Parts: sequence; structure tokens; C-alpha cells
Amino acid sequence: MSDSKQRSILITGCSQGGAGNALALQFASKGFRVFATARSLKTLANLQGENIETLTLDVTDASSIKALAAEISSRTGGSLDILFNNAGTLYEAPAIEADPARVRALFNTNVFGLMEVTTAFTPLLLASVSSGFSPIIVNVASVLARVPNPFASAYNASKAAVAAYSDTLRLELQPLGLKVKILYMGEVSTPLMVADNINFGPESIYRAVEDSVKARTNTHLAKTMAPAQFAREVADEVFSGKSATIWKGTNAFAVWFLNAVGPRNVFDSTVLKGLD
Ligand SMILES: NC(=O)c1ccc[n+]([C@@H]2O[C@H](COP(=O)([O-])OP(=O)(O)OC[C@H]3O[C@@H](n4cnc5c(N)ncnc54)[C@H](OP(=O)(O)O)[C@@H]3O)[C@@H](O)[C@H]2O)c1
Repeated sequence: MSDSKQRSILITGCSQGGAGNALALQFASKGFRVFATARSLKTLANLQGENIETLTLDVTDASSIKALAAEISSRTGGSLDILFNNAGTLYEAPAIEADPARVRALFNTNVFGLMEVTTAFTPLLLASVSSGFSPIIVNVASVLARVPNPFASAYNASKAAVAAYSDTLRLELQPLGLKVKILYMGEVSTPLMVADNINFGPESIYRAVEDSVKARTNTHLAKTMAPAQFAREVADEVFSGKSATIWKGTNAFAVWFLNAVGPRNVFDSTVLKGLD
């Protein structure tokens, strides 16, 4: 940390095995006061004893968000330096066959929950401005906000919504002294993708490719960046990066580059080949 005061960070979605858990350990190792949250304390057990404060938060539950904001405020004296909106969920299904209830649940977590957490914690972040620090909100989007990965349309759309929301939030909060960063996360080997969760059903017109979608998940788990490495790279960018966007994780740099220079369909052949 560049200044002498111990800075605080709240991270959502810190269950063991995932990116949030690794980020909590990484920020703690850098001397931050870390508040790591998840829906259940059981999934945070490995963080206890690591000088990390573990608390529960369900980002889809307004009363849970309100209770956590009050608790953090009382523990810190009313301020927070970094909010890391990491919690998220995945639902893979063909766009025209997706279960509307599951799509709404996904948006409740990935988009509306993230927005409500941001609103609830902004007063604490604003209170930190007077201490000479520029508080930061990091919102976890995905390279899939830009890559049309088939059979994950709702997820891709939710992450595009996070990116668009965060870009606007950045402009609105800039005059108040807050920074907003979008994390375009590439592939990281976490429990987010589970082949057993993919079930198009016997009536699906896409049933012939269901096994390929499952294989895509298994390849993802086997061949992508480990959460600890991802956390190291991301934490460095949060501290020192000047950009409003962070591209980290397997293939993130390639997506950044192709998205910047290529046509809108630049990714089509790659994602379709991944299902051969
Ligand atoms: N892994 C990748 O390749 C990848 C790529 C791009 C973006 N991302 C994004 O990275 C973030 C972290 O995901 P991950 O890959 O580390 O997967 P993960 O291990 O499954 O982590 C997701 C976390 O979000 C939590 N969560 C889910 N619903 C929640 C809710 N309603 N309230 C609070 N917490 C909730 C999960 O808690 P439970 O344990 O209780 O479910 C878990 O702690 C997500 O936003 C994900 O979309 C991941």
C-alpha cells in the first residue's frame, strides 16, 4: 500500500475455490483490512485465521445488504476504501429454451444485486475520500460481455449490463472522488462452471451439441489460470493501474486486442469451433 493508513476492502462472493477467495487472501497479504463475504460462513472457513473478517451477504437480499452495511460501518467507524463486487453465478442453456426463472435469478445476482450493493456501500466509500484516498469500486464483468459464447446468452448479457452500468457509474462518481473499474475477467479455474449443471433436456433442438458444451466446461476447468495467479495480477492492477478497465485471466488480453481492432463478428469462428 502506498499510504501508511491501513485500507479496507469488502469483497463479495468469496467461497473457497473461487476468485473472490483468492482475492481476499491476496489483499490481506498486501496489508489490507479484508471483509470477505459469501452466503454461508462455511464456504469462508479457510479464510478464518488469515487475518480476514468473514461475514455473510446474499446480494439478492435487501435486508442482508443493509445489515452488512451497518456492520461494516460500525467496525470501520463509517468508511470503506474498496468495494469489490465479485459475486456472480452462471446459467448455461440455449437462448430460446432458457428457463425464465433461472434467467431472472441470474440477473438478480449478477446485475441487480451488484447495483444494490454498490448503492448501499457508496456512502461508506464517500466517507473515505476525506482521508486522502481515492476509493475504488471494482465490478466483475467478463470477457463474455464482448464474446458471443453460445449457450450462455443470459450470462453474457448480464456481464454486458455490468460493464455498461459501471461505465456510467464511473462518470457519475468521478466528480465525487470515487474511481470505478470494470474487471473484464478471462477464464479462471473456479467452481463457477460445472458440467453437471448443463442439461438442455430431451426436447431440446440443440441436444446434439450438449455433450460439446459439457466438454467445453471440462476444458475450461483443466486449462485456465489458477485463482491465486489471477488474484495477484488483479490486485496489482487495482492498486497501480491507471485504466478504468482491467483485463486479466486466460485469453483476456487476446479478447481485449481483438475487440479493439476487429469487427463485431471477430470471435464467431473461434467460439463455434469450440463446440465441434
Ligand atoms: N471463472 C471464470 O472463468 C470467470 C470468468 C469471467 C467472469 N467470472 C466472474 O467472476 C466472479 C467470481 O466467480 P468465480 O469464477 O470465482 O466462481 P465461484 O467460485 O462460483 O464464485 C462465485 C461466488 O459468488 C457467490 N454468489 C453466488 N450467488 C450469490 C448471492 N446471491 N449472494 C452472494 N454471493 C453469491 C458464490 O457463493 P456460493 O458459494 O454461495 O454459491 C461464490 O462465492 C463472478 O462474478 C463470475 O461471473 C468468472
